[in-house]
Amino acid sequence: MSDLIRFDSENKVFHLSNNNISYLLSIDDGGLVSHLYFGKKVKRYHNHLSYPRIDRGFSGNVLDNLDRGLSKDTLPQEYSGSDSGDYRQTALIIKHGDGSRSNAFVFKDYHIQDGKPGLSGLPASFVQDKAEAQTLVITLEDKVSQVELDLLYSIFRDCDLVARSVQVRNQGSQSIMLEKVVSLQLDFVAKDFETITLPGAHANERHMERQSVGYGLQRFASRRGTSSHQMNPFLALVDKKTDEFVGDAYGFSLVYSGNHAFELEKDQLAQLRLLVGINHENFEWELGAGDAFQTPEVLMVYSNQGLNGMSQEFHKVIGQHLVRSQFKYQERPILVNNWEATYFDFTEEKLRPIVDEAKQLGIEMFVLDDGWFGHRNNDQSSLGDWFINHEKFPQGVKGFADYVHQQGLKFGLWFEPEMISMDSDLFRNHPDYLMQVPGRQPSPSRSQFVLDMGRQEVRDNIFNQVKDILDQGYIDYIKWDMNRHLSDIYSLDLPAHRQGETSHRYVLGVYDLLERITSAYPQILFEGCSGGGGRFDAGWAYYMPQSWASDNTDAISRLTIQYGTSLVYPISMMTSHVSAVPNHQTGRITPLDTRAHVAMSGVLGYELDLTSMSDEEKEAVREEVEAYKAIRPLVQYGKFYRLKSPSDGNATAWQFVSEDKTETLLFTAQTLAGAQPLLTITKMVGLNPDADYEHVALFKEGEDQGVGYFTSIYASRPLEVGAVLSGDELMNMGIYDPVVRRDFVTHLYYFKMKK
Ligand code: DGJ
Repeated sequence: MSDLIRFDSENKVFHLSNNNISYLLSIDDGGLVSHLYFGKKVKRYHNHLSYPRIDRGFSGNVLDNLDRGLSKDTLPQEYSGSDSGDYRQTALIIKHGDGSRSNAFVFKDYHIQDGKPGLSGLPASFVQDKAEAQTLVITLEDKVSQVELDLLYSIFRDCDLVARSVQVRNQGSQSIMLEKVVSLQLDFVAKDFETITLPGAHANERHMERQSVGYGLQRFASRRGTSSHQMNPFLALVDKKTDEFVGDAYGFSLVYSGNHAFELEKDQLAQLRLLVGINHENFEWELGAGDAFQTPEVLMVYSNQGLNGMSQEFHKVIGQHLVRSQFKYQERPILVNNWEATYFDFTEEKLRPIVDEAKQLGIEMFVLDDGWFGHRNNDQSSLGDWFINHEKFPQGVKGFADYVHQQGLKFGLWFEPEMISMDSDLFRNHPDYLMQVPGRQPSPSRSQFVLDMGRQEVRDNIFNQVKDILDQGYIDYIKWDMNRHLSDIYSLDLPAHRQGETSHRYVLGVYDLLERITSAYPQILFEGCSGGGGRFDAGWAYYMPQSWASDNTDAISRLTIQYGTSLVYPISMMTSHVSAVPNHQTGRITPLDTRAHVAMSGVLGYELDLTSMSDEEKEAVREEVEAYKAIRPLVQYGKFYRLKSPSDGNATAWQFVSEDKTETLLFTAQTLAGAQPLLTITKMVGLNPDADYEHVALFKEGEDQGVGYFTSIYASRPLEVGAVLSGDELMNMGIYDPVVRRDFVTHLYYFKMKK
């Protein structure tokens, strides 16, 4: 029955494949499950890639097997145990009742099932119809401890994806301690890879970093309790020659929003082991007799069409198989958010004119950010007190939301549900809800503290407070923020020897709360946020279809942030706002057009005081909003290509192409001007070579003021509106980038196929 997964019982080989990819593993001597291949599809495997048996000194052998060529220390395996002869980084460490950490897992059984199972309590990829995927479950056992492992592999029909996770079951009669349990192990032989990761910082998230892999161990991890700004839970392995369009690219995205680790070890034979999962530093999990532990899932994508091929596959996977919200393929509203306009200093009276202006400009939603609750007038108080500040809103937030609705706009509200201020009723009534180590001062960050979301009682309290507001039915959108990382890790619900469970229980608790809220209010559009893009991960996408990409709204900084974000995450997930100048994070002054072009390359919003703009600027915003509405489906759901990286020089370019190739949008940026700049050309991609495309106006041309001796800021102008070029001209010859006597200049070129 199985066409995506086949088992060759004679050679004991499992072959997972769809139209483009193959993944092969086999049951080797001694019951070891060895990895054979992952990559471009092979139609039939004739059993010629078993790992050669070579006796390697000081790499021990497998009991009951006199074959000195078979060693756990060299064999590529699907999942390695510890302290039984494999000296590489291991997938699993169990501390048994007798204090030992040895285990020896061997094949026990397998089954293949249609579809893709969900993972209890965790976000995971899914299919609508069982025919869209098949799942192989391989059961391994450690006979002595009677611990069993289920290795899950789901291959999808329409995406070049294998989703993997692991379940550990304690079938013995004693408790065991899990000290490490990764979601994925992948061993490669004879591959000389480079890594691409997405490190960053607050207001500087997800810039692509490419490095070679040397001997020894390399780790890319978060121990901040969340997926973090500092190291996104993603890693790609690419060939040295792989670029945006050509070459092997393997991408691994962990569907998890907590501490994570991507470990790479290049061993004595230059073989490479990749381990991905929950970060095992400060992690321990007691597994009682009869209990099970489920790891998060890893999405494993392969493309032989370079990084763009890999990214497009991830965009498809996340859009189709991870985002559940009813908004997943809906056009997202253009919003105005009051944060950078007012910070905490607002009243309903002050906000109403912004709403009025937004209506005039065609903006579709008003979002009330931080400061509407408790007595919060700065960041020192009230987190945890989710009741209305009547000094700011005499008729309640509902009265204000009614006003917003009367203007024809939707209404959105900000929450930070996982946090507590010491100056709050919540803390005065329940000081024990604050996560802290007994007898120690908890460490503040932004003057706030973390609630112990692992505790049901804490979650219920927050759920009920949020519910009281949402049940009034006036909220169309929620921004769910989190403005610090975890520290002082301790849970009052757990005994001393189980404190290592706290961080993971926190994440499971947050997922539980998200599940309750998002399923009770499916009509609300949710946006994730953690001080900008601190929790921009695939796990979060399961609950919230969009996330605030960064607290940095500077258009030039955003080039790098959005470029990196697009490596994994779909454009419909990435929100981007036009803000005031000088920019509040960098002090940089960029033209309004530039800020608009960059924000229009994501899910567009505004984050400035619209009432303080000049008439000319307001007219420009009206045009941007109108133009964005015309191209919104193309931007949010078209195919996205990175063309020129902002980190490679002075020019950035990216492009959107509609599925049927009848429309395309090209974005180009020149960061700095020069007196004698070198000419550059941008070549487009993904078009129909035989069709003609017309360059259609999106905006009215702005005033060209000239500089000094020159009558125009253009030394050479951008392609004129009305120009007709064939797809092959645009792709093979390209167009000259304009040369402009001004810094921070961008262009948007919109082309439509001629009938
Ligand atoms: C961090 C967010 O990223 C901002 O947009 C804003 O909501 C502030 N928090 C509010 O405290």
